[in-house]
Parts: sequence; C-alpha cells; structure tokens
Amino acid sequence: MKTGFTILSNCALLAWLSAAWSPGASAQSVQAVNPFADPTNLTVLPKTITTRELSRTMKSFTQALGVRCTHCHVGEEGQSLSEYDFASDEKAAKEVARGMMQMVEHLNRQALPAALGAASPSVAIQCVSCHRGQRLPQQLEDRLQQIAEEQGTEAAIAEYWRLRDQYYGQQGLDFSDQPLIALAERSYERQDLVQSRAWLDLALELNPRCEQCLYYRARQRAVGGDLTGALSDIRAYLEIRPESPPGQALLLELEARVASGAR
Ligand code: HEC
Ligand code: HEC
Repeated sequence: MKTGFTILSNCALLAWLSAAWSPGASAQSVQAVNPFADPTNLTVLPKTITTRELSRTMKSFTQALGVRCTHCHVGEEGQSLSEYDFASDEKAAKEVARGMMQMVEHLNRQALPAALGAASPSVAIQCVSCHRGQRLPQQLEDRLQQIAEEQGTEAAIAEYWRLRDQYYGQQGLDFSDQPLIALAERSYERQDLVQSRAWLDLALELNPRCEQCLYYRARQRAVGGDLTGALSDIRAYLEIRPESPPGQALLLELEARVASGAR
C-alpha cells in the first residue's frame, strides 16, 4: 500500500482553519524553527509525508480529542515548540495514537468497504468520528452513571454541571434531555428512586418543558404518595400534550385518589 493516509486529509482543512490549536509558542517562533521539518521517528505515517501534512495531521489530532500536543508529546505548556521532544515515545498516549491510526486505516481500507459491499466509502472514518472533541469517546450518560456508582449522586450531578459549563455547544457531549432521562430510567431500574428523582429534577430545572420528564416524575411522585406534586407535574405535562391518553388516564387516577383520600 503506497498511498498516504485517507484518515488524515479530510479532517485536515478544518483543523487548519480552526484556532483550537494554540500551544504556548508564538507564531513567530514556530516559523523560526519548524518542528514538523525532518521528523526522525515516524513508524506509521509515511516517511515521505510533507511538513505541511504532518502539521495538519497533528493539529487534527488535538482537535479531534480536545487535547494539546503535550497529551502525546514531551514538552511543557508555554514552552516554544522547538523545545518539545516530538520524536520521544515516552508518553503512552502517543503509542495508543499509533494504534488508533492503524485501526482507522484498517476501517477505511477494509472494514468499511467490506460492510458497504466492496464499494469504497464516500465518507471516511476519522479520529473525530468517534472522539468528537473528547479524549475518551464516552457517552455522557455512561460517564455520569459511572461516577454515580463510584462516588454517588451528588458527585455525578456536580460533574454534569462542570461538563456542561465546559462543553456546552461543542461537539461531543449531548446536553439535551435524553441522557438525563436515560440516567433516570437506569436508576429507576436499579430501584434507586432517590437518584432517579435527582436526574429528573435536574432535567426539569434545565428544561421545565421536558414532557417525558414531567410524565415520568408525575408517575414517580404518585408511586411515592406525593399526590400534589404528581398532579402538578401531570397538569404541566398535559398543557404541552393535551391529547395524551396515558397523561389523561394518570390525571383521572390521581384526581380519584385525591378525592377518595379527602373523604
Ligand atoms: C493523540 C496524540 C497526538 C497528539 C495530540 C499530537 N501528536 Fe504529534 N505525533 C503523534 C504520533 C503517534 C506521532 C508519530 C507518528 C508515527 O509514528 O508515524 C507523532 C509525531 C509527531 C511529530 C514527528 C516527530 C518525529 O520526529 O518523528 C511531530 C513534529 C509532532 N508529532 C508534532 C505535534 C504537535 C506540534 C502537536 C500539537 C499540535 C502534536 N504533535 C499533537 C501523536 C500525537
Ligand atoms: C472507532 C472509534 C475510534 C476512532 C475512529 C478513534 N478512536 Fe481513539 N479511542 C477510541 C476509544 C473507544 C478509546 C477509549 C478506549 C478506552 O479507554 O477504553 C480511544 C482512546 C484513544 C486514546 C487514549 C486516550 C487517553 O489518553 O486515555 C488516544 C490517544 C486516541 N484514542 C487517539 C486516537 C486518534 C489519534 C485517532 C485517529 C487516528 C483515534 N483515536 C480514532 C475510539 C476511537
């Protein structure tokens, strides 16, 4: 296989245009000593790679993973790039990245064409296809559930706020209602009603018109005996979805329970 890397060319332009890459060195010093000239330790990239293509590739890595050069290379933030030791293999992430490059190459050259029936893919897989700006391509709900299990509900909610502050509006993490609803359902299945409720409260704090959340919380409140709270939720839900048969059924049931309790 003679040709260069399919993974690299597509994402390169974007990476090039974007300013997300901002190592401490000034543009001037980068120009003075081009760190991409004369690489000595390429084992996966073609040795004939141009300075420019190598630079684009590296910038695309930082973008795809939301990291800086120092994640994979020996060097200090704020140092000029000419003082980095890019050839060093000291950092484990660099070796992982080599494996990832080979994996992506395999996907594009073999797995994807095979899946498509020997056609060459019109969309190539790139680092960003999975990573989406994150070091670990993990879904928000999976990450939060892990934290909830290890450190408890409060820590998981704190992490949600932290991530939201940091990543809201960027690619990668889904800050819609859905991950919180998924978390509420998972907690409910584990019969952790307190945690389930905490996720629903958070979802409704962020989006008071989350209909699924309102319906779900109404049911949970009803089960827990909080009829007033349940009624208020189901009414809010029916304002958004007046035609919903399960919503109307729950309203009737709750009203009947209140009436019989009052008698
Ligand atoms: C995700 C990990 C990762 C990030 C982030 C990364 N690199 Fe690399 N870099 C590599 C890997 C892996 C190689 C070696 C590729 C090979 O073996 O073919 C490499 C090689 C290099 C080389 C060639 C070194 C030599 O002499 O062989 C330079 C220069 C370089 N990177 C610069 C940078 C710069 C500048 C940044 C930040 C904009 C950066 N890299 C970000 C993984 C990374
Ligand atoms: C098919 C999906 C996929 C693609 C494409 C992909 N990765 Fe990954 N990568 C992963 C997964 C999943 C992990 C986390 C594995 C784990 O920790 O269990 C990971 C982890 C990594 C890590 C380790 C992160 C750390 O520091 O702990 C590096 C570095 C990395 N990927 C670099 C790359 C680079 C560079 C590319 C493009 C050449 C790439 N990945 C493409 C799925 C992918």
